[in-house]
Amino acid sequence: MKKIIALNLKMNLGYKEILDYIKTIQNKVTDNYEVIFFPTSIYLDLFKKSGYLVGAQNVHFENKGAYTGEISPYQLKSLGVDYTLVGHSERRLHFKENDILINEKVKGALKNQLKVILCVGETDEERLSNKTYSVIENQLKNNLQNIDLEDVTIAYEPVWAIGSGKTPTKDEIDEVVSFIKKKVKQENAIDIRVLYGGSVNKENIKDIMSIESVDGVLVGSSSIDPNYLISMIDIID
Ligand code: PGA
Repeated sequence: MKKIIALNLKMNLGYKEILDYIKTIQNKVTDNYEVIFFPTSIYLDLFKKSGYLVGAQNVHFENKGAYTGEISPYQLKSLGVDYTLVGHSERRLHFKENDILINEKVKGALKNQLKVILCVGETDEERLSNKTYSVIENQLKNNLQNIDLEDVTIAYEPVWAIGSGKTPTKDEIDEVVSFIKKKVKQENAIDIRVLYGGSVNKENIKDIMSIESVDGVLVGSSSIDPNYLISMIDIID
């Protein structure tokens, strides 16, 4: 199975910038990896029509209804969307998404054959008080309750590493990723894929991708400039 490079563009770039972005990456995206673009939802179709795997950054749990401003998993699927992120720490923090809601979203997405990348990870405060493992164990337990995990990938994203330029050491990443795999195997008898996310850049991508337990990366800021992105992927291609 190919390792994954998931690119979370967050809430960045205007329409013309996105058209330029797609032009810049044309014929430059490797197929040695499973590269998935997570642009703002209004641009999903543009990436899809250009032949890329695409994912939404967020999804509602219901298929339809009176939920002004939301996008349903049914709608995403009908557009040909392949993946969705669920439980990104920015959604947990800024939009108060809790474990119950996240669990519902995972279920809604899977029901519509959208693959899910569930984000988990500890805050700086939790890390400093040695709660990393218990926090992650709880997130896995609560977010994945009553779910068939076949189409689920986990992204280990320490909250303190996101957008901060700080990353855990290779050994720390390996330990937490291996812990997640072991827990999921114990509870669900399935080998789950686990990505690392948080300040992945040109300087560290090679090291992080070389960790055997890591099945890929979830990249934020380093994916916004298409030239930077291409030169970063070149390093590991
Ligand atoms: P970052 O973001 O690469 O900018 O740290 C990662 C993410 O939020 O998924």
